[in-house]
Amino acid sequence: MRKVVIAGNWKMYKTQAQALEFLQGFMLELDNVPEEREIILCAPFTDLALLSKNLHGSRVQLGAQNVHWEEAGAYTGEISGPMLAEIGVRYVVVGHSERRQYFGETDQTVNLRLKAAQKYGLTPILCVGETKQQRDAGETEILIYTQLEKALVGVDQEKLIIAYEPIWAIGTGDTCEAKEANRIIGLIRSRLSNQNVPIQYGGSVKPTNIDEIMAQPEIDGALVGGASLEPQSFSRIVNYQ
Ligand code: G3P
Repeated sequence: MRKVVIAGNWKMYKTQAQALEFLQGFMLELDNVPEEREIILCAPFTDLALLSKNLHGSRVQLGAQNVHWEEAGAYTGEISGPMLAEIGVRYVVVGHSERRQYFGETDQTVNLRLKAAQKYGLTPILCVGETKQQRDAGETEILIYTQLEKALVGVDQEKLIIAYEPIWAIGTGDTCEAKEANRIIGLIRSRLSNQNVPIQYGGSVKPTNIDEIMAQPEIDGALVGGASLEPQSFSRIVNYQ
């Protein structure tokens, strides 16, 4: 049985004060969320230690948005797996399209980060997805297969989450149709050796479309950007019907 995982990706939003304010509203709305749903907040590095203290003993898990592949070293501006694990971080987003697009992330560095995350006890959330141009050119499947193949060399599929995030659907309000997301996620699963890897959909997930998304048989959760910033909307999402 595959796990359901709903993760909020706050991206570069929320000071510590704003993060605490979010928790005040959000934590009150979790009483009816079925226990087997994993809820994760992937926050900026500067919020993680504070959130860790405030989430201690709760059912909400903490995630980071990137991790370096070395344990320590002269890598100005980077954060390592042990640094994250020490403060209670359990998950980390790897290979988000914004990192690939703006920060030179490649399939090779994604692979290094995935292995490092696992080595230091973190479960990576690997993001894959195509641009609008690639979709229009009929290259979606091959692009995603290539991303997966290169990312997963030497990666333990027992400790892995994958998020299918079509780039054209991120932050645009232009959600991928639930049935199409379901089809692509089924194709992703067909390339995996472990059939129990949870595969999320991400891209303009909102309170108004989460029920339809989660009704799809292949979709095991959501990676939520904008709609995870507001306690009311993210709590509606984790409370999907
Ligand atoms: O990682 C989540 C993401 O990229 C989707 O963002 O704002 O479209 O939900 P958003």
